[in-house]
This record gives sequence, C-alpha cells and structure tokens, in this order.
Amino acid sequence: MVMFKIARVETTPIDGQKPGTSGLRKKVKVFKQPHYLQNFVQATFNALGADKVRGATLVVSGDGRYYSKDAIQIIIKMAAANGVRSIWVGQNGLLSTPAVSAVIRERVAADGSKANGAFILTASHNPGGPTEDFGIKYNMENGGPAPEGITDKIYTNTTTIKEYLIAEGLPDVDISAIGLTSFAGPEGQFDVDVFDSASDYVKLMKSIFDFQSIQKLLSSPKFTVCYDALHGVAGAYAKRIFVEELGAQESSLINCVPKEDFGGGHPDPNLTYAKELVARMGLGKTNEQDPPEFGAAADGDADRNMILGKRQVVFFFFFFNVDVSTAVFTYEFNSNFRFFVTPSDSVAIIAANAVQAIPYFASGLKGVARSMPTSAALDVVAKNLNLKFFEVPTGWKFFGNLMDAGMCSVCGEESFGTGSDHIREKDGIWAVLAWLSILAYKNKDNLGGKKLVSVEDIVRQHWATYGRHYYTRYDYENVDAGAAKELMSHLVKLQSSLSEVNNIIKGIRSDVSKVVHGDEFEYKDPVDGSISKHQGIRYLFEDGSRLIFRLSGTGSEGATIRLYIEQYEKDPSKIGRDSQDALAPLVEVALKLSKMQEFTGRSAPTVIT
Ligand code: G6P
Ligand code: ZN
Repeated sequence: MVMFKIARVETTPIDGQKPGTSGLRKKVKVFKQPHYLQNFVQATFNALGADKVRGATLVVSGDGRYYSKDAIQIIIKMAAANGVRSIWVGQNGLLSTPAVSAVIRERVAADGSKANGAFILTASHNPGGPTEDFGIKYNMENGGPAPEGITDKIYTNTTTIKEYLIAEGLPDVDISAIGLTSFAGPEGQFDVDVFDSASDYVKLMKSIFDFQSIQKLLSSPKFTVCYDALHGVAGAYAKRIFVEELGAQESSLINCVPKEDFGGGHPDPNLTYAKELVARMGLGKTNEQDPPEFGAAADGDADRNMILGKRQVVFFFFFFNVDVSTAVFTYEFNSNFRFFVTPSDSVAIIAANAVQAIPYFASGLKGVARSMPTSAALDVVAKNLNLKFFEVPTGWKFFGNLMDAGMCSVCGEESFGTGSDHIREKDGIWAVLAWLSILAYKNKDNLGGKKLVSVEDIVRQHWATYGRHYYTRYDYENVDAGAAKELMSHLVKLQSSLSEVNNIIKGIRSDVSKVVHGDEFEYKDPVDGSISKHQGIRYLFEDGSRLIFRLSGTGSEGATIRLYIEQYEKDPSKIGRDSQDALAPLVEVALKLSKMQEFTGRSAPTVIT
C-alpha cells in the first residue's frame, strides 16, 4: 500500500472567497492561482470542525467542467491529510448535483458506511473552459447545500487562514476506472472509491416513478421526445434513463456527451441558450421530421430543467352537411413555435397532478413551496388543494429545512429549478420524469386514440382551472456593480411613499393597477427561526400583479439585475394571450419606475425568459 505523509503548507488569505447563493464561483484563472482552491477547501474543513472531518466519508465530483480533474486530485490529497477516511468519486469525476445529493442520502459502501458530505465541483449553468467559470460548494449530511451558518464560517476562515494540510507522496488517483484504491497515512488507511455515476441515481428514480407507464407512453409512435443536455453532466444519465430504461430512441438525445467546455455553449436551459432543442421543437410539419411531442433540457450540473411541448394550433374548423351525417374536419398544423412551460407553471402543474401521477406522492403532499420571485401559480394550487404552502428566499437551501422537518414535498423556483423531498437539491431529470409521468397518466386510456393529450393541453387545462399567471423575467447581466446597487437603493427609497409611487405609475400607464405594498422581502425560517433579510425588492399591486427586483447571487463578474414581472388572470377568455403582450404595460412601468436605462446604460435586457 502506498504511504503518504502530511505536509503543512503556509498560506495567506486571498480576497473574495465569499460563497454566493450556491458556492464559490470564479473564473478558472482565479481558481488556478497558487493556494486559491486549497485555501477554500481548508477553510471548509476548518468550518466543519475536526470532529466532523476526521474519519468521515466525503463525495467529491461535479459536472465535469474544465479544471474539475485537477481540483479533484487536490481535494483528495487535502482530505487525506485532514484525516478523512474515505473519498467517493463518480467515474471520471462526474456526478450531477442531484446525484450527489442522492449518493449522500442513499449510497451504502460495501463496508456499510455512508457519506457525511460532499464537495460539488460546478458553476452550474455558467459556461466552462479555460477562460470561463469554475465553482465549488459543500453539501451536508442531509444531501443539501451548507446552510448560511457554515458558509459564513467558511468565508471568515478564508480571511484568517495561515496554513493548509495536504498529503505528500499520495499519487494522483485514476478516476476513470471504477474501483477502490487504498493508501496508508500516518493515522491509518485512506480509501478512494471510484463508482458508477448513474446507478444510485437511477435506482432512486425507479423507486419514485412508475417507469412502466412512462415506457408505455414512449413506445407510442405518436409520442416522441428530445432531450438536450447542453453537453453537461445530464448526458451521463440521459442514455441510461431515457434510452435504456424507458425505451426512447437514441436520436432523442442531443448534446448528451459531457464536455469540459460544454461544447463552447452556455449550459443554461432556457429559450435563448438551448438553441438546438428550440430549433428541433420548432420544426414545421413540412420538414422531413415531425417536431417532438415533448422536449426538455438541463443545465451544466443537471439540477435545472426546461420543459417544452409541441405547439398545436387549431388552424380552422370546417363544418359541412352531407345527406346523412355531419363531418367535422379539423385541420391542425404545427406552427413554427414550441410551447414553453414557465418554471413557475411547471411546479404548480406537478403539484396539482403529483398524487395521481407519481407513485412516490400517492399518499399525499406534505406541503409545497416556492421561492419569492417565482409566480404565485403554486399558491393557487395550494389553496385549492388545501396544502401547506411556503414562500422562501431564492436559493434551494431554504427548501431543505422544510423538507427535513417533513413540511414540504414539492417545490420550485422560477430559475428553472423543480424538485421534491427525495433529495435536497433541485433535480432536472426528476422534473422531466415528473412531466412524462403526468403525460403518461393523462394519456393512459388514450394511447390508441387519434390525438394524445399534449404538454400544451395540460398547461391550458391548468390555466382554465386555476387561472393564469403571466410571467416574464428580464436579466441585465454584467452591469457595473455600483450602478446596480444605486438602482436598488433608488427602488427601496421610493417605497417610503406609495402614493408617490402610484403618481409616477399613473404618469407612465393608466391601465396598470395600484401598488398596495412595497418592501424588501424578509424570511423567518419556520423550522430554525433564522431570519434572512434583503431578499429582493417587491412591489405588490392591487390586482395581484407583482414587480420584483433582485441582484443575482450566482454571477462571477459585475452584477446581474433580475426583474420579475407577473400578472394574474382569472378570466378564462383572457388566458390565451402572448405573455410579452399581456405584460407590456407592467414592463414599461417597471423599467421607467426603476430608471433602468439611466442607472445601467442598457436599453434592453441581456436575456428575457
Ligand atoms: C442557484 C440556486 C437556485 C437559485 C439560483 C438563483 O441556481 O441553486 O436555488 O434559484 O441560483 O440564481 P440567481 O442568479 O438569481 O441568484
Ligand atoms: Zn445548476
């Protein structure tokens, strides 16, 4: 057995190691500075405390982005030197963020041990490659991101750090081959266990969903799918689940080979960045291929999802009488559009159908939750179904406490995150399986029928039942940080006089309702009583509309301003409008009220979703 020694390396604090909404994310060149990653990892070990680290089993893996392989070797050596007993690595260092959570909660090693936590190496939906982003975050024993108490401690430690520990004489471990390698350290044996990235996760999915019913749906020639992993880590799961387990065609998968630079793309599943999927879904019937019935995409670490359906437009109805019968011809054609399910609608629809369509929820939902800027579509479902409901700040970790306390089963965020209490991260593939389950359920007696119940049908039925929340988000990326702060304080200051706000609004548009409440969102965690302040500026209108302004916590350069615009429509005759049209008056008010162009110099957002 190869032996190693422990080296203590002197270091000094490096500025700017404060973890954001979801870990520390910086450009690769920042991470590659001497001691940069090491300082952060040691600060994390110190924050956890020796009693939690010594003898522990930790998972180390991620979305496979550039610099992951180097980082994994560094973390293995530092873990060994800090007294960790065993490190688990997904083959080739690949584990999606939800799979890490599943592995922490579910995987049992041959000797019966379980994992105590994980370093996840990802910058999520940010691009990867030598000039792009890398990231690292720590997840706890429950499988969820470290709470603020720990991340604050990590940050404080990075500002005072003097040394870190690293194993000397420990060779790089071959993470491409499955198997256990053991080393001998001063305090005993240290193991590195490289395991199959997909099996634990696949097993968990099979225990949640009725794979047989989804398989039946997928075997119908009328039901075709397209899944775009954007060259992220979802590709390591897609073939196993969609093709091998569920019988989808291999041609249904696009960009499903994980790449260090995500093929040069931006691995964020939205209408702007998932170009290939959007193009495929938009194919008209005149093209060789029919567009798929169902489309979905994931982000780099596969915790986000986007759901699309084929858009079916009833072109016209043509009635005519013949002697003995009446024939009705319905001409349907597929226009050059895909049908986009907003993430806010997606979680509401999953919650509304979960009990019937997903075996895991058969005995009922413990509660549902959404992040504050997510539309209130879920609120209406919760009210109608008499479910416990929570509104939390942005960031998946806030759901974790509710789930650990058995108060919440399904939750979601407008930022393309949907999930449940099966793990403590949002879960992109879970969301796709949830939608496939709902489609399978709605079509269970209909597979031989003329036309399947489509994604669009399901969404429209939902709106007809619960009303529709028109919703859009405007992102202003990489804005000067000072200017972004000024804009935010301008908006807070305005809130001191709502009558003045309403005067301004009247001067902009007369067809917009009145602001009845303005504040900065503050959250008191019902489980541990902790308070989170300054979680976004809210303008709430008399008719239920909302304008929310927030600074992103996940960017790596400058500031990103997010503007969330929402309007509720209960009248069934008005739920079919184009959302940008429907929201145009509110958008105009938001931009003028915030003086967006004056503060940022931007005449248009970077991305609209
Ligand atoms: C990450 C978190 C999400 C959160 C999102 C917000 O993806 O996991 O829970 O919603 O960041 O990002 P933002 O850039 O808006 O802070
Ligand atoms: Zn992600």
